[in-house]
Amino acid sequence: MLNGKNVLLGVTGGISAYKAVEIASRLVKLGANVNVIMTKNATKLVQPLTFRYISRNPVAIDMFAEPESWKPEHISLADKADILIIAPATANIIAKLAHGIADDMLSTTALAVRCPILIAPAMNCNMLDNAIVQENIKILKDHKVEFVESEYGMLACGYEGKGRLADPEKIVQKIVNILTIKRDLEGKTILVTAGPTREALDPVRFISNRSSGKMGYAIAEVALKRGANVILITGPTNITPPDKAKVINVESALQMYDAVMSNALQADIIIMSAAVSDYRPKEFSQQKIKRDKGEITLVLEENPDILAELGKNKRGGQIIVGFSMETENLLENSIKKLKKKNADFIVANDLSKEGAGFGTDTNIVTIISADGEVKELPLMSKHDVANAIFDFIIK
Ligand SMILES: Cc1cc2nc3c(=O)[nH]c(=O)nc-3n(C[C@H](O)[C@H](O)[C@H](O)COP(=O)(O)O)c2cc1C
Repeated sequence: MLNGKNVLLGVTGGISAYKAVEIASRLVKLGANVNVIMTKNATKLVQPLTFRYISRNPVAIDMFAEPESWKPEHISLADKADILIIAPATANIIAKLAHGIADDMLSTTALAVRCPILIAPAMNCNMLDNAIVQENIKILKDHKVEFVESEYGMLACGYEGKGRLADPEKIVQKIVNILTIKRDLEGKTILVTAGPTREALDPVRFISNRSSGKMGYAIAEVALKRGANVILITGPTNITPPDKAKVINVESALQMYDAVMSNALQADIIIMSAAVSDYRPKEFSQQKIKRDKGEITLVLEENPDILAELGKNKRGGQIIVGFSMETENLLENSIKKLKKKNADFIVANDLSKEGAGFGTDTNIVTIISADGEVKELPLMSKHDVANAIFDFIIK
């Protein structure tokens, strides 16, 4: 499955470093060529010799050791890597990577790679919870570094909480997913909407919702990786859009409607993951509304229903995917929406479940097709949800 793939496995000084032996072993069994880089602190917890025999390659530790060729070892390793996985990743290596520090073999190699980087953090729960560690993780996520989240459980330090290294099997599965990513959307144009809309009341105020745009941006990113041309129509978010997407920024539902309608014809697949306001204020006050008016009444009027409009004007072969956010009767309401709007698929989020919906990095969704197939997915990263949506559509 991983024949011909070069996996660089970075091991840092966490107590779970011994679990990296299993990761290396599983990767070798899948056919990968594994090169292990250990930090000096990691070698105090596990012998490099173990990794040498499991990986069948020399273990790189010292930046200044005599390299096998004229090239410095960190560059040779970085150049041939198809993926760099750091497991376990200490708070220390996460901080170094987030700030571009290159003071040992692993951190220097990490700056030199051009392949995807995957990080599996493991540390005491209070360390993981520390705002600085969380900020560093966010910086790396913003730079497209991927993560396998730590898990809850008994920690080696005696605490119970979140911080355990994810299961080696799960980490290896994620590596396989990244390395075997399909280019099955090549030649297709995907239109994705993302984020909230803002419905202006006056020059400074608006009505909006809690959508962060993370789900739509993950869909756009995954579609690009799978070879599609992507048009991303987005309401205001704090996320940097993927480089290769055509990005159209909008604010209001009406602007989103215009942007979608004028780009819909060229799209093979349209995925409406934006949280578009159903209503807008009927009146827009040119001047800031003053407090001295006492009680005021807001009159709202309906916005156009973009999904229904797309369903009505669907061209042959076009696939339309809607999102539904429900707080009750998830399946029933979502199937109703799918039929009413003439969509091909609905991705239903159950807002009542922890880890699902707005603002989080994860989601729990059920995908429903127009021919009645229902696929319930477990808690996943929004990135993995995006892949699952495309797998389901393509099937
Ligand atoms: C027994 C032991 C276990 C440790 N486990 C962890 C750990 O799981 N996660 C972590 O972030 N730091 C852990 N540390 C602290 C790191 O080893 C320390 O921050 C070190 O500077 C990390 O260096 P490195 O990132 O270069 O490997 C541990 C230290 C000791 C002595």
